[in-house]
Amino acid sequence: MPHVPSSNGRPPWRATVLTLFPEMFPGPLGHSLSGQALQAGIWSLATVAIREFGLGRHRAVDDTPAGGGAGMVMRADVLAAAIDHARADAPDAPLLYLSPRGERFDQTLARELAGGPGALLLAGRFEGIDERVITARQMREVSIGDYVLSGGELAAMVLIDACVRLLPGVVGATASLSEESFETGLLEYPHYTKPREWEGRQIPEVLLSGDHNKIAEWRRNEAERLTRARRPDLISRPKRPSKP
Ligand SMILES: C[S@@+](CC[C@H](N)C(=O)[O-])C[C@H]1O[C@@H](n2cnc3c(N)ncnc32)[C@H](O)[C@@H]1O
Repeated sequence: MPHVPSSNGRPPWRATVLTLFPEMFPGPLGHSLSGQALQAGIWSLATVAIREFGLGRHRAVDDTPAGGGAGMVMRADVLAAAIDHARADAPDAPLLYLSPRGERFDQTLARELAGGPGALLLAGRFEGIDERVITARQMREVSIGDYVLSGGELAAMVLIDACVRLLPGVVGATASLSEESFETGLLEYPHYTKPREWEGRQIPEVLLSGDHNKIAEWRRNEAERLTRARRPDLISRPKRPSKP
């Protein structure tokens, strides 16, 4: 499908998900910020039903693991046909396989992907996919964390959501993005809102002072304190360069 200009004048960021369960989409992505951005044409979503490329009367997509063992493995020939079909509409998009073995998805990667044309996302099922299609189609394996999901669809949604909110025009004030957790290399400072006192707990006085320098300093200190306490690895971690 050709790119239609979005309301911000750019071609939409395009997510294509290859899945056995296309009916799961857009799911939560159709709501709130990402849903409004989808409606506004800032991004677009396509699904490719892997089953349509399945073999035989039953449209088989998987088979038993070579060498034996439990479970089933998604077939390389079926997946390659689905990928090649999806590729025709998204020639420049990076191809990612959501996989617990992959590099860890983080804000830097979200920014890198959001800066590109979109992504082709392969959601696995069963025991995973035939290794040969990973190398043959040069997939980048990406994990959303050290746990095992039943399928890659939720992981694809997580990745898409994190990218979409970085697209211009999706989140109102750009300042609110640049101060978020991980953007500065730190976790975000605590937030408060009305009422001024709640269950005997006060909003820190400095936030009510109107002194913007002092507020900025307090927020920086709090961000550092929280990061040291909860994620000291973020402070010691060398910064991964973000591609524009
Ligand atoms: C049951 S899992 C397969 C797990 C695989 N046998 C293993 O031990 O690494 C099925 C599919 O869920 C997806 N998946 C599971 N955990 C994931 C994670 N942490 N990040 C991204 N995708 C994940 C992958 O697409 C995977 O092919």
